[in-house]
Amino acid sequence: MKKIIAILTALALTLTLVSCGEPEIIDYKTELTDQSLTYSEEELESLSQQEFHIGDYGLPALYKYFEGLCSVGVAFTSNQMYDYDLALPYDKKAEGPKITVGDQVKAGILKHYNMYVLGNELKSDHCNPAEGVYNFDDADKFVEIGKAANAQLRGHTIVWHSQVPQWWFKADPNDQSTLADCRTNGTLASSDQLIERVTTYITELMTRYKDDIKIWDVCNEVLNGNGIRQYSDDGSLWSEIIGDLDGNGYADDYVEIAFNAAREAGGEDMVLMINDFNMEWQDSKTNAMYDMLERMMRKGVRIDGVGFQSHISVDNNVELYRRNIEKIASLSEVYDECFPEYKGNFRVEITELDMNMFVGAIADEGFYTWSMEDYERQADKYFELVDMFLDFADEGVIDAIVFWGTDDENSWLNTTPKLRRNAALLADRDMIVKPAFWAVARAALKHRG
Ligand code: GLA
Repeated sequence: MKKIIAILTALALTLTLVSCGEPEIIDYKTELTDQSLTYSEEELESLSQQEFHIGDYGLPALYKYFEGLCSVGVAFTSNQMYDYDLALPYDKKAEGPKITVGDQVKAGILKHYNMYVLGNELKSDHCNPAEGVYNFDDADKFVEIGKAANAQLRGHTIVWHSQVPQWWFKADPNDQSTLADCRTNGTLASSDQLIERVTTYITELMTRYKDDIKIWDVCNEVLNGNGIRQYSDDGSLWSEIIGDLDGNGYADDYVEIAFNAAREAGGEDMVLMINDFNMEWQDSKTNAMYDMLERMMRKGVRIDGVGFQSHISVDNNVELYRRNIEKIASLSEVYDECFPEYKGNFRVEITELDMNMFVGAIADEGFYTWSMEDYERQADKYFELVDMFLDFADEGVIDAIVFWGTDDENSWLNTTPKLRRNAALLADRDMIVKPAFWAVARAALKHRG
């Protein structure tokens, strides 16, 4: 009798599941791109003569050109990806823009990239707005999108002087005064308070996403051209509050504390990186990064790599940039010596690549109409750069190139340092792919041989 009841229960359960309908699992990487494309040079040359929107089915998927070389990533904000599944039922035959611009962006993100970064909503001010309050809804969505599109996720970023919760730095977390006033009034947080708050947050964050986000920019922009950032440079209070705990003459102990907390919560397999800008051309900053990391590694702090943000300009000096990557890449010798069990694990990643077009005679212009000639010049620079990055990928140094956005309309370079119409990325404002898209693909093909 018991057996019959068990069988009937199982049957009923199965029928319920079938009638409710299991959610359909969509393979976006396959569904959004024509699977008969060959990714050959001949095909690239002929397709690059045609006009494609970034999400078109007939447009090759950028990451496919990089297979076997490195990951290709993109940063987006969660509002660009709400209802990302809308991207699917569209324009399979690439007959034109049958989907909205927003859906082109979604489709473009899903089809071209195999590494994702959440542009703003994983930053600490967003996730930990008040003591004991965690806001992880957007980050959860990010994880869901990553799974749906079979993409690796980079966590960006935890310890920074910008987009960090102000309450972390105040003795009373509910104090409504500005940090400048707290500093004048002597009501800033103590070193112990700040350490406790950042450690608690890191533990909460890393524990929650341990299985889904395996690479983190633990620290962002801690250096300026001379060394560790100070309050006088840009209001960074980290160094001033936590200071030089080990008395070695360097007030950058907060960096070590953050990495140690992240390692503790994230585990040995987590890739923990430090990210910064201007190392692309500024030797003094590159040297400062090298010296700081060498010192920390020799103390036992395992830092698995350096992110070059790579907000560069169309007149970027690629050879200078190459030399600075070489310098940082040579830290792998120190890493291998200090952490022999993890030998070969040190890496460089290109984390926020985009290209400012306002240089030279037009540097101060605002609303400029870009010509095909400008786009070709940009494509040449993208080719040169990606070709250089891939020399390092060939040597196992660079394992990821991440673009800071999909298209010229959705780029921070339209508002920073002032309002203007920049043209920084691989698709234009109408989501039509630019010569730069094909140049990047061509550089990858060159390295695939
Ligand atoms: C820096 C940060 C990024 C982002 C960009 C501007 O490079 O690391 O998170 O804020 O600036 O969009």
